[in-house]
Amino acid sequence: MSFEVRPLSGALGAEILGADVTDFGPDEHARLQAAFLEYHVLVIRDQKLGRGEQLEFARNFGVPEVHPIVEGMGDHPDVIRVHKPAGESASFGVGWHTDNSFFECPSGATVLYGEVVPPVGGDTLFASMDRAWEALSEPFRERIEGMVGVHSARQAYDPGRVGPDKYEGKGPLTYKYSDAIQEEVRHPVARRHVETGRKSLYVNPMFTLGIEGLRSAEAKALLGFLFAHAASPDFQCRVRWQPGTVTMWDNRCVWHYALDDYREHERLMYRVTLAGEKPV
Ligand code: SIN
Repeated sequence: MSFEVRPLSGALGAEILGADVTDFGPDEHARLQAAFLEYHVLVIRDQKLGRGEQLEFARNFGVPEVHPIVEGMGDHPDVIRVHKPAGESASFGVGWHTDNSFFECPSGATVLYGEVVPPVGGDTLFASMDRAWEALSEPFRERIEGMVGVHSARQAYDPGRVGPDKYEGKGPLTYKYSDAIQEEVRHPVARRHVETGRKSLYVNPMFTLGIEGLRSAEAKALLGFLFAHAASPDFQCRVRWQPGTVTMWDNRCVWHYALDDYREHERLMYRVTLAGEKPV
């Protein structure tokens, strides 16, 4: 099967057109894997996947994880049903982040399938942390290269902050209490991609709460600068969803942001994250 790879922006991302991932053989998977390492975000159009098929596809890129805080589906605990009913604000993935950087071994890839998408709005933004790293001056990179970021889920998932509803199963997503909410893990501020060898900035506004050894005000100032720098439109691409779009991204070197601009419409996605390695 031949499929087209069409870049989405100068920074990252490509659309995959004319593919049927349920019919891929080793050659197609190898080509897709090569495109993934080159573009870091692949937007595969016109798929029709049940959860079993989505998991089967995702397993070509790693081992699906069960989230410690967000409940998975009853029959597929390693799939999160990301549902935003019409009339409500979006509340999952809103804000720049990389998935699960608060894990000791953060998620590698994420595979998100769009089933119900709003007629307008609900796009997902992506930003290249390779580009963000490379755009810093050399003396500045040298200065921060050995620093270690402190990551935690407490800002994003603490029941006191997000409100009790999600923990009481009242919303479309259900959270569960877990020690993982308060834990802190440490990852290098500059991360080397184990497959491409490229360096990227590895801090994000949702989960990086401090820098080891810096006072809180110092870390806040440095992180504030890095977050503003990395959110530059120059490093981004934007994904407009269609029903049947599969978007997969590489959390090792990409940020993403689910927009909250479609209150009157429903949106239903299914998310699988794949286990990654300890950042180096
Ligand atoms: C996520 O942050 O994993 C969800 C992204 C989205 O819903 O677009």
